[in-house]
Amino acid sequence: MRRDLHCIDLFGYSGKISKVWRSAGYSAEQYDVLRGGRAHDILSKRGFLFLMRLGWKLVQGGAIIGGPPCAMNIFLSSSVHQRQWFGPKGDVSNLRVRMSNLIAQNLATFLRLLTNEGRLFFVVLEQPKSSWFWQLEWIMALGALLACIRINTWMAFFGHDLLKGTSLWGNLPQLSSMHRVLTRADKERFVRRLDSWIVPGHVVDVCFDDFGCFNQFSNVFYNFPDPFGLKHELERSTKERRQAVRKRPRKYYEKNHTGRVHGCKDLAKTADYPVAFARALFRIWVNAFVQTPP
Ligand SMILES: C[S@@+](CC[C@H](N)C(=O)[O-])C[C@H]1O[C@@H](n2cnc3c(N)ncnc32)[C@H](O)[C@@H]1O
Repeated sequence: MRRDLHCIDLFGYSGKISKVWRSAGYSAEQYDVLRGGRAHDILSKRGFLFLMRLGWKLVQGGAIIGGPPCAMNIFLSSSVHQRQWFGPKGDVSNLRVRMSNLIAQNLATFLRLLTNEGRLFFVVLEQPKSSWFWQLEWIMALGALLACIRINTWMAFFGHDLLKGTSLWGNLPQLSSMHRVLTRADKERFVRRLDSWIVPGHVVDVCFDDFGCFNQFSNVFYNFPDPFGLKHELERSTKERRQAVRKRPRKYYEKNHTGRVHGCKDLAKTADYPVAFARALFRIWVNAFVQTPP
């Protein structure tokens, strides 16, 4: 099999990683069940074998960048998964928890098989900060085998709409350069960024319902319709209006009339990597790749 693949964009629904790799002239393949169906399902035999095939195609020093599904690993779903320090596998009588564990297990098996075959690759996995994923025995054993480190960062530094505390785990040299500390000043800066959505070049198509909108940074709920005000729009010069780009803001959360916050249709998009994040990873990888012996 020809080894000509530079990057596997694992669980890469948004395809941001593969786009960045390709735009720099390297080859990349997306692998996500929502993109490729059964052939990209790590839980099915066909999908696992397809992933192995991608693994064999990987060049020496190739990248495997993945954000495994986190829904059954995070703090918000604690009551469902029931993971805890003396039982990180959680409530295995629950099918969703078992499937989530199996994804971790299959992923670890895939990486272990590549390592056993003597393949040299750089892996980076991403999860929200509160994830139990790293405590699963298969991932811990793999971390020791591949000499992986784990660092914390915030997606907001890379242009994400939310602060999104994130853990990165992997054996990519210089991965620690992705580490970010969120100071109070940074947080205020990000809050202001969100509050100043309406700027020349970005006319926001605001269509808030009667309950207003939820500011994801400051956790402030704007309890009045159109918090940015039509006034801003009217004050713009004709030139600014003409140059403006129509862009609908993503609506991740919303408060309903009972005061409870619930996810909106853009909620799943919180998982998308910002392009700057993909580029930062690419820069670190390419440095390591050019120094990898053939
Ligand atoms: C947290 S999202 C990662 C998205 C990534 N950050 C991006 O920018 O594309 C997890 C992804 O895993 C995919 N996924 C879930 N179960 C899977 C499975 N059994 N096999 C392959 N992919 C799966 C989902 O479709 C989802 O897109």
